[in-house]
Amino acid sequence: MNDEVRQWLRAARRIVLLSGAGMSAESGVPTFRDAQTGLWADFRPEDLATEEGFRADPRLVWDWYQSRREGVARVQPNAGHLAIAAFQQRHPGRLLVVTQNVDGLHQRAGSPGVLALHGNLAEDKWLEPPRPCCDPARLAQGRPPRCPACGNLRRPAVVWFGEMLPKAELAAAEDAARGCDLMLVVGTSGVVYPAAGLARATGGRVVVINPEPSALDDAADAVLRGTAALLLPELLEE
Ligand code: OAD
Repeated sequence: MNDEVRQWLRAARRIVLLSGAGMSAESGVPTFRDAQTGLWADFRPEDLATEEGFRADPRLVWDWYQSRREGVARVQPNAGHLAIAAFQQRHPGRLLVVTQNVDGLHQRAGSPGVLALHGNLAEDKWLEPPRPCCDPARLAQGRPPRCPACGNLRRPAVVWFGEMLPKAELAAAEDAARGCDLMLVVGTSGVVYPAAGLARATGGRVVVINPEPSALDDAADAVLRGTAALLLPELLEE
């Protein structure tokens, strides 16, 4: 099966790689649905990762994101991220990374033009539309930091449940999905839309890479049961 997929890869002019939390598992980032350990074991991510949850307890949600930020800052891109970036360097313009991950590891590995559909853990933004007094360079420190004049809160610049994905990124991802000959779907449970829908809206072949069954297996022309850091170097290296 790997040989057939390698052949598809060699022939494909336009490739989209759609990644989810499993892409970073071997870097030591717990996957979304496995992340609730220790301090956070009593909370469901679906409750914390919402505007409602943040408004109900800004400190709790801010601290949860801080702990994830610190976790991500301590880890490195894995062999899978690096194999993708190296392929892109050898074949400029041929492979586009579309990710649901907010950990920035594709970018740190050197992938250019990553479409981060769910935002970036390292960045903040205003909770309310900013007023003239709201200046990110002049914050009252706190958990979360706030505008000293009006009290507007900073929040993580990630997409929460119930929120729209960034329009430009989603449109670019949809275009790329429609236009590609091959889509590699790596490490995602495939249950969160609209990201998962990209694998169903492509005209190209779909290859799922995941050690476990996923909700996108039925959309795949090939399913490779294995991990990102093992299989991607094997597939992408010449
Ligand atoms: P999940 O945590 O739901 O799923 C992780 C997937 O990775 C599972 O299918 C695992 O089998 C697979 N996996 C685990 N280890 C792997 C490895 N080493 N190599 C390859 N695959 C592996 O994460 P996502 O599908 O990314 O959105 O979740 C999608 C979205 O749900 C997240 O982006 C997040 C959440 O809601 C938002 O926060 C908006």
